[in-house]
Formats: sequence, C-alpha cells, structure tokens
Amino acid sequence: MPIEKTELRRVMGHFATGVTVVTTCGSNGRYYGFTANAVSSVSLVPPLMMVCVDKNAESYPSFEQSRVFTVNILSAEQEDLSRRFAVSGGEKFEGVSYRVGANGAPILGGVLAHLECRVVSAYDGGDHTIYLGEIQEAETSEGKPLLFYRGGYRSLGD
Ligand SMILES: Cc1cc2nc3c(=O)[nH]c(=O)nc-3n(C[C@H](O)[C@H](O)[C@H](O)COP(=O)(O)O)c2cc1C
Repeated sequence: MPIEKTELRRVMGHFATGVTVVTTCGSNGRYYGFTANAVSSVSLVPPLMMVCVDKNAESYPSFEQSRVFTVNILSAEQEDLSRRFAVSGGEKFEGVSYRVGANGAPILGGVLAHLECRVVSAYDGGDHTIYLGEIQEAETSEGKPLLFYRGGYRSLGD
C-alpha cells in the first residue's frame, strides 16, 4: 500500500531545504509565481534545472504555455514573500519589487540567487508536472538563505 499524503508530507518535512519562488509569464501579460522547494539542479553539461509544478495550481497553465521559468532563491529576510507566493491566486506581484528577465519571467528583488530557464522537456509526475529547463542566465547576491524544515521557516543557526 502506498503511504498517505499527510504522512509523506510529515516524513519529507525532515528533509531541510531552501525556499524559492518559481515565476513565469502568462499569455495574458500577467506574471505568475508560487513558492517551491521541489527544485533542483540536474545536469551541469548541459546546465539543467528541475521544478515540480502542481497540476492544480492556478499558475500551472501559464507554465504549460510559456515554457519558461525563473527560480528565485529566497533570503532569510524574505519569509513574507514565501508566505505570499504560497497562497493560491490573486495579485501576488502587487507591491513586490521585481524586474523582467531575458526569458520574460520576473526576477524578484533581494533574492540570494536567480536562474532563468527555458523548458526543454516535461514529464508526468503524478499530481505534478516535472519541468526540465536549460539554464540561460544566473546570478547571485550576498546574504543568508531562508530554510524550510518540518513545516516551519528557519534560518542558519536556528
Ligand atoms: C515551503 C513550500 C514549498 C512548496 N513547494 C512546492 C513545489 O515544489 N511545487 C508546487 O507545485 N507547490 C509547492 N508549494 C505549494 C505552492 O506554493 C502553493 O500551492 C501555491 O498556492 C500555488 O500558487 P498558485 O495556485 O497561485 O499557482 C510549496 C509551498 C511551501 C510553503
């Protein structure tokens, strides 16, 4: 028997991760994004990044259409941004500082790093779609990371 969703959440909560906001652009000229920790670099040559997007997310159709995404790695000061982008729908970018990257997706202000990607393949992953993107541009800044562990936000040293 496969384990239940709540139990899987509890168990995987023991895997400490960073926190990102993955953004894209819609065909309607709007920007979309959601908080994500199911992200990883996959290959160095070619440079590939993976993100897993919930098929039921409001932003999901825009990821399907645009075939671009940007992974914004949040700093310890950006818990409020993580909470904002973890709520479904609405005008998430209102009052948020961002610029539009070369791939057309928003790069959030004050992030520790960002990686701009173009989707090269997509795979079915149950209730998620796994997108593999070729990394076109990437940049870092100084600061401490925001962490997520056992359902709560942490920072280094907690
Ligand atoms: C720490 C954290 C990590 C998350 N990781 C993911 C993820 O990797 N993939 C995903 O689809 N949703 C993830 N979520 C949930 C989405 O952020 C949430 O469903 C969001 O409301 C989707 O926004 P949308 O419906 O406006 O697209 C995560 C939430 C949190 C708080």
